[in-house]
Amino acid sequence: MVERIPQTFIDDLIDRSDITEIIGKRIEIKKAGKEYKACCPFHNEKTPSFTISPEKGFYHCFGCGAHGTSLGFLMDYEKLTFIEAVEELAKILGMEVPKSNEDIKLSKKQTNLKLLLNQVSEYFQSNLKSSEKAIGYLKNRGIDGKTAKDFCIGYSNDSWDDLTKNFGSTEKNIDQLVEAGLIIKKDKGGYYDRFRNRVMFPIRDNRGDVVGFGGRIIDEEDDPKYLNSPETMLFKKGYLLYGLYEGKQEISATKKVILVEGYTDVIGLSQYKVHNALATLGTATTENHIKLIFQKANDLTFCFDADNAGRKAAIRALETCLPLIKQNKSVKFLMLDKGSDPDTAVREEGTDGFKALLKKSITLDDMIIDICNSSFEVDSLTGKANAAEKAIHLVRQISEGIYKDLVVEKIAEHYGVPPKKFMAGTLKTKQLKVKSKGDTGKRPTLVHQAIKILLNKPSLAIKLNPNVHLKYLNIKGIDILNDIIDLVHDNESIKVATIIHHFEDEKLRNYLADLAVEEILVNPEELEIEFDDIALSLKKANLRKELNGLLEKAKNKSLSKSDEERLVELTNIPKN
Ligand code: UTP
Ligand code: MN
Repeated sequence: MVERIPQTFIDDLIDRSDITEIIGKRIEIKKAGKEYKACCPFHNEKTPSFTISPEKGFYHCFGCGAHGTSLGFLMDYEKLTFIEAVEELAKILGMEVPKSNEDIKLSKKQTNLKLLLNQVSEYFQSNLKSSEKAIGYLKNRGIDGKTAKDFCIGYSNDSWDDLTKNFGSTEKNIDQLVEAGLIIKKDKGGYYDRFRNRVMFPIRDNRGDVVGFGGRIIDEEDDPKYLNSPETMLFKKGYLLYGLYEGKQEISATKKVILVEGYTDVIGLSQYKVHNALATLGTATTENHIKLIFQKANDLTFCFDADNAGRKAAIRALETCLPLIKQNKSVKFLMLDKGSDPDTAVREEGTDGFKALLKKSITLDDMIIDICNSSFEVDSLTGKANAAEKAIHLVRQISEGIYKDLVVEKIAEHYGVPPKKFMAGTLKTKQLKVKSKGDTGKRPTLVHQAIKILLNKPSLAIKLNPNVHLKYLNIKGIDILNDIIDLVHDNESIKVATIIHHFEDEKLRNYLADLAVEEILVNPEELEIEFDDIALSLKKANLRKELNGLLEKAKNKSLSKSDEERLVELTNIPKN
C-alpha cells in the first residue's frame, strides 16, 4: 500500500502539516517552553508525559514510548489506515493526493459498488410503492410516509432472481451484485437474491451512500426476522451505525447520541422527533462504535430493554465503554420496562414522555453500583464486600482523570469505604496467607485458617467431624468453626453469605466478611489439599489433647472404665 502514493508527496504532507494543530484538535495540549505537553492518549496516565515538538514535527510519549508524525498520530488516534490518514491530512491541507493506477482502480470499484447499492436501494423503494403488502406492514407498525422516505425504506420482491434480472445484465454486473452481497452464487451454478419478500432498510455511510441493507420479514413465519448484508469492502458492521447519516445534523447540534438496538427503534424515535438515535447492525456494541460516537458527540445514552437479555447487553456495553470515557464524555443508561423497546416506548409515551424517560437515565456510576449490587446478595456483608470488589474491578478500567476520581468517590461512599482504600484494593484488612509453611512471624491458628478456607469453599466442611477433629481443642474460634461445620452438614450447598448471616454478633459478622473476601493465594485444588493438611493437623492436636486429659485423669486416679479403654487405645496407636 505504502508504495502507491509517492514518498515525496508524503514527506511534503508531513512537512507542511502543523502537528500541534492536528493533535491539539483531538486532545487537550498545553504549551511548555518550545514544546507542548499532554496526557498521553495511548495509555492511561495522570501526569502528562506526552510531548509534542512542533519544530521536529514529532510527538513522543515518555510513558509508553508511542511516537510518530502527524500522519502516524492520525492513524493511531483516529484508527485510520495509511491511505485514509494521507487523505485526511491532504484534505486538511487542501492538497490533492496523487493516485497510482492501483489506487484509482480500487476507488473506482468502491464508487461503482456504491452506485449499484444506491440504485438497488431506489429500486427497493419503488417496489414498496407497488406492494400493498409492504405498505400495509409499515402502516400497521405506524411508520408514516415521510419517515419511510427519510430512511429510504424499501421492499425486496418475493422472488429468487429479481435483482439478477434487473441489475445483472452483464457478467461484470453479476460480479458486482455478488460483491455487494445482494445475490449469492449457487453451488450448482446460477445465483439467487439474498433479500426476498422483506422490508428493506438501507444502511448509509457518513456521506449518505448506501453501503448495505437490513431486511425484515413481513410474514411473521419467515426466518430469520432480520437479515443483513454480509461484510463487504464497504459494509463493515463493527464500524457502521444505523442512523448516522440521517441523524447527522441533530447529533452535531446537540452532541448527544442515544444508542438503541434495532432499526425500527431509530425510525420510530425519528418519527417522534428524536433524531439522534443510532443502532448497531445486529451486533454487540464494539469499541469502534463508541469511539465513532465520541468523535461526534459527548453524551451517550444506551437504551435497553430491562429484561435479562437487555441487562446483559447493558453490562457488556458498560464494560466496553469504560476505558473510552474521558473528561468531557458522559455515558448513561436508560433501562426501559421489561419487554419494551424505544420504538414502542416512544409510541406509547409520546415525544415528551420519552424525553422525560431520558432525563431519568441512570448515570454510569449508579449503573456500576446497580450491576454490582444485583450480582450479589448485598444485604449480607459478604455480598456487599463482593459487590464492592466487583465495582473496584470495573472502575479501574476508566482512564485516569478527574472523572474517574469522582466516580471512585461516589462508589466508595456507597460501599462505605474511604476512596483511597477503595482504589488501592485494600478492602482486605488482614492480609493473611493460607499457605503458611515456612512463614515466619505471626502465624494464623489452624482454626483461623480452616474458617478462612471454609468461607471461600464451605463444602469442604464435610471433611471435618467435630468429634474427631475438634472435641477436645480449646483454641480461639473453635465455636465458630463448629457452627460452620454444623451449617454445612445441614445444607451442603449453603452460601457463604448465609453462613455469615447466621452469626448474631455484628462485630463477628464483619470479621468473617473480611475473611471471606481476603485473597486466598492458592488455586482450588491446592485449597482442598491445604484443607486436608489442616484437618489432619487438627485431628492430631485433638488426639493429643484428649490423651493429655486422660493422662491427667490417670494421675488423679479418676479414670472411668471407658477412659481406661480409650487410654489403652490411644497409647497403642503410636506403637502400630
Ligand atoms: P429485535 O428483535 O429487538 O428487533 O432485535 P426490533 O427492532 O424490536 O424488531 P421488530 O420491532 O420486531 O421489527 C433488535 C435488532 O437485532 C437485530 C436487528 O438489527 C434488530 O433490529 N436482529 C434481530 C437480527 O439481526 N436478527 C434477528 O433475527 C433479530
Ligand atoms: Mn421492536
